[in-house]
Amino acid sequence: MRKKVRVAITGVGNCASALIQGTSYYDKNRESVGLTSYNLSGLEPGDIDYVAAFDVVNSKVGVDLSEAIFAQPNNTVKICDIGKMDVKVEKGEILDGIGRHLSHKVKVSDKSSVDVMKVLKDTKAEILLNYLPVGSKQATQFYAEKCIEAGVSFINAIPVFITSESKWQQAFGNSGLACAGDDVMSQLGATVLHKTLVKLFVDRGVKIDETYQLNVGGDMDFYNMLDEERLEDKRVSKTSAVAVMAPYQIPMRIGPSDFVEFLQNDKVCYISIRGKYFGNIPVDLDVKLRVVDAYNSAGVMIDAIRGSKLAIDRGISGPLESISAYCFKHPPIQMSYSQAKANFLEFVEGKRER
Ligand SMILES: NC(=O)c1ccc[n+]([C@@H]2O[C@H](COP(=O)([O-])OP(=O)(O)OC[C@H]3O[C@@H](n4cnc5c(N)ncnc54)[C@H](O)[C@@H]3O)[C@@H](O)[C@H]2O)c1
Repeated sequence: MRKKVRVAITGVGNCASALIQGTSYYDKNRESVGLTSYNLSGLEPGDIDYVAAFDVVNSKVGVDLSEAIFAQPNNTVKICDIGKMDVKVEKGEILDGIGRHLSHKVKVSDKSSVDVMKVLKDTKAEILLNYLPVGSKQATQFYAEKCIEAGVSFINAIPVFITSESKWQQAFGNSGLACAGDDVMSQLGATVLHKTLVKLFVDRGVKIDETYQLNVGGDMDFYNMLDEERLEDKRVSKTSAVAVMAPYQIPMRIGPSDFVEFLQNDKVCYISIRGKYFGNIPVDLDVKLRVVDAYNSAGVMIDAIRGSKLAIDRGISGPLESISAYCFKHPPIQMSYSQAKANFLEFVEGKRER
């Protein structure tokens, strides 16, 4: 009998849809494109069992998870059919999850909220995966607290700081639970591309004068991010991930820039870097990247879930440093991508404690 990992999800949006479809797709197709490896120290994608899910909108609450992942306003692409999962999406606590923009696009379910702690316990979830909208600070803290009460580890895919904050590191560590995060870093997304380009300039001795990264998309994530007030941590997360690649301060502006409805779940990113090389001669680089956003993080999340399960089984609690540095933009310890990958692989092989 194969070892399984029991995962609960809060926020059944495009990312949850791509993750669940991807898990099923890889279980059937046994490929490893987009995964660190098909078998990660004994765990395959198909060993992830989704056992509970929370959302708050009418189109998803009360519905089987296999249908909720395709419910409006989700608009990512479909890569496979998903059979009934026998997991009903329960209504969690709304708090600050639905911002002023989203509230015009979705109807909040009028069902009663469930006892999240009890659902996590009853379903024997081992990990809760946080996929709430950007800016859901109170709601993220609420679900993190429920995890601690229920004895469930936490993976935070969004830019609200939990794993990178000492208060929460201690709270999870003192309860014998693990946490990984914050803010998932896509497989080939704007952040890792920008980090790599800045490192290339620095390694080749080019002095960078200024850089920006502008991103547009047509899903609810981008619609929600029209609200600049919800973006504070997103900008910190994305900017710190790039800034760490240069040994000096670079004027930079990085973040979500507009909502373009017809792009649906495609995200378009524009990166510009200007600098000087030998003889004070200017060099100017402009790059455009277009990706399906939700799928870009799904493989990374399959690795983060499997890595966290290894940590849980090894009795490791508190912040998971190598998983967080490899899979997330705002980890407890920022490092270059290649260093993070090396540390992650050492952790998987049991050569590094966390
Ligand atoms: N590549 C990527 O797509 C990527 C990369 C990094 C970070 N992220 C982050 O992951 C998160 C999820 O992205 P998405 O595209 O799935 O967003 P989404 O808007 O499609 O999904 C968010 C879901 O959360 C639900 N929700 C809102 N308030 C809630 C509450 N209080 N309790 C439970 N559910 C609630 C919404 O109804 C919705 O179903 C976002 O914060 C996004 O910025 C995504």
